Amino acid sequence: MKRRVVVIEGEDASPEAMRPSVEVIDSLGLPIEWIRPPVGRPALESHGDLFPEEARAAIDAADATFFGSTSGPSAPALLHLRWGLGTYANVRPARYLEGARSPLAEPAGVDFIIVRENLEDLYMGIEGEVEALDVLSLENRFSHRPISDMAPARFALKVISEEGSRNVIRFAFDLARRRRAEGHPGRLTCATKYNMLPRSDGFFRDIAVELAAEYPDIEFESFIIDDFGHRMVLHPHALDVVVMPNLYGDVMSDTAAGLVGGLGLAPSGCYGDDYAYFESAHGTAPDIAGRNVINPTATLLSGAMLLDHLGFGDAAAALRTAIEALYAEGKELTPDQGGVATTTAFCEAVRGRLGT
Ligand code: IPM
Ligand code: MN
Repeated sequence: MKRRVVVIEGEDASPEAMRPSVEVIDSLGLPIEWIRPPVGRPALESHGDLFPEEARAAIDAADATFFGSTSGPSAPALLHLRWGLGTYANVRPARYLEGARSPLAEPAGVDFIIVRENLEDLYMGIEGEVEALDVLSLENRFSHRPISDMAPARFALKVISEEGSRNVIRFAFDLARRRRAEGHPGRLTCATKYNMLPRSDGFFRDIAVELAAEYPDIEFESFIIDDFGHRMVLHPHALDVVVMPNLYGDVMSDTAAGLVGGLGLAPSGCYGDDYAYFESAHGTAPDIAGRNVINPTATLLSGAMLLDHLGFGDAAAALRTAIEALYAEGKELTPDQGGVATTTAFCEAVRGRLGT
């Protein structure tokens, strides 16, 4: 039976990476049906809605979604893919490909994965005027001044739930266990600001400490997020799987991408209990839109994660090997990697390597 994958190309330069990447994956001859429901600007024109019911139904009925990047119009679909479908674990690998441009003196062998909680923390969408907090008589815990004294000022709400934390931390431990079976160290690092936020981040950390007891085969360590950032830059080889709350994970995954060659190479997959979707970690790159130079590596590697998820592990491995070979050879790279190849030329070269 064919697996059904919804494709949402996104905005600005994103479709330029998505279209040839889908062609590359399609050339592998797997039983995948690509479904392109109306989303974003075209949907607004044809259906009077950026995210028509038809698109939502197509996503829900599919085995997975392959998402580009959005500058706004496709955001309602993204919100559905995350919050609507409960994709709580955002998996962001930082793996160095020989030949990629890294600022590190010794990037070879860097290979770790950030698992970012994807639905909670400061991503509640709840912000407001501090005067509204008067009713709660909230005061600064350190200065003991009423928060409303700071007006004009705004607040944002950070919520860390027990269930949400447990889900993503367990996911990260299980991932570390699977990687250990493949020869990785079997280590989970938890990064939070538990010293300043003992009740929220401390809660996340406590749950990680508690779950660690169920994974005696996995070495567990916990760092304060700023210390973690320093360690990540200085000793990235020591990392295996890292778990952290949403906002830190957003920031640290872009930072990690910078260490191993930039956002042009950074894939991502978001997993829930019943659904998963795949998207590059980068944005829509409006500055290079229309020039056919966006690096499709992040999209292709997200595609490899999609293939793994669909059960096409051999095809995923072949795709990764083809991309690795191109970087090692260094001839057909895009401008962000110091090359002169176009997006489509890179994808052609991947197909050349794949023999498709
Ligand atoms: C990402 C992006 C998103 C996020 C934006 C587009 C909402 O930065 O996927 O990392 O912050 O999660
Ligand atoms: Mn981000």
